Amino acid sequence: MPGRLEGQVAIVTGSSSGNGRAIAIAFAKEGATILCSDLRPGALAAGYEKDLDVPTHEAIRKAGGKAEYHQADASKAADVEALVARAVALYGRLDVMVNNAGIFTELHSILDETEEQYDRTMNVNAKGVWLGCKYAIGQMMKQTPRADGTRGRIVNIASIAGLVGLALEPAYCASKGAVVSLTRQLGVDFAPHRINVNAICPGFLATAMVRPFLEDKATNEALHALTPYPRVGTAEDVARSALFLASDDAEWIAGTMLTLDGAFTAR
Ligand SMILES: NC(=O)c1ccc[n+]([C@@H]2O[C@H](COP(=O)([O-])OP(=O)(O)OC[C@H]3O[C@@H](n4cnc5c(N)ncnc54)[C@H](O)[C@@H]3O)[C@@H](O)[C@H]2O)c1
Repeated sequence: MPGRLEGQVAIVTGSSSGNGRAIAIAFAKEGATILCSDLRPGALAAGYEKDLDVPTHEAIRKAGGKAEYHQADASKAADVEALVARAVALYGRLDVMVNNAGIFTELHSILDETEEQYDRTMNVNAKGVWLGCKYAIGQMMKQTPRADGTRGRIVNIASIAGLVGLALEPAYCASKGAVVSLTRQLGVDFAPHRINVNAICPGFLATAMVRPFLEDKATNEALHALTPYPRVGTAEDVARSALFLASDDAEWIAGTMLTLDGAFTAR
């Protein structure tokens, strides 16, 4: 049976660790060719992956999939433009863009948050997604549509922090709120062109980003108490949702948020 992304070309930003890595691996298993992109090819040491020493593109190739790695800082316009150009130079087109790269500085009130932390968070999490959408959509509008007339799919990784206020995460919440709003806006502008722009809003997941929370007994207990589903989320949960939004099953879904949080925000 052909994979759900058979013959398609996908870029995943922040692909070396956590959600990006799981998404790249899941997409490759479904037949997509992946251009992995990150600041460095190696996974973050704090990650939960069992093969931390194997870069994502190599893990995909070992499993029989197709992938290359291209270094790019998702917050820099020239890097993101070059990343999209590289996908086109290598594979001739771009079908799916996953804007996943993101950072979290630390828990603090706005009274203690520095201007540098705010700027850094907004640059990667908000501007980075804007750049990824801008250059990917530019390419999707230029290229020949797929046989069914669709032009491409964008999956932005936002967060429940873009939907509700999370204590002590001011810049992070602001940056994810920007992703949520941009996703709705681009959904409106590009649905007529059959480019789907959607976002996933995950709750707390076991990745390098959240490891310090999970290892702190009090914070871990608080996270479990706030999440009705009796386990934390995983990068693989995000990958399955990203696969759905990138696939033909989601063709009429545009400009919307898929909340993936074990009912955290439903309370
Ligand atoms: N972990 C969670 O609980 C959680 C929850 C909701 C949303 N998210 C979001 O999911 C996305 C991925 O997070 P994760 O949990 O996998 O984190 P992670 O820290 O495990 O991985 C993030 C990856 O992004 C890369 N990256 C960071 N800055 C970059 C930049 N400027 N350019 C390119 N790559 C960059 C890192 O090198 C790393 O490989 C982020 O957008 C994050 O905000 C995470």
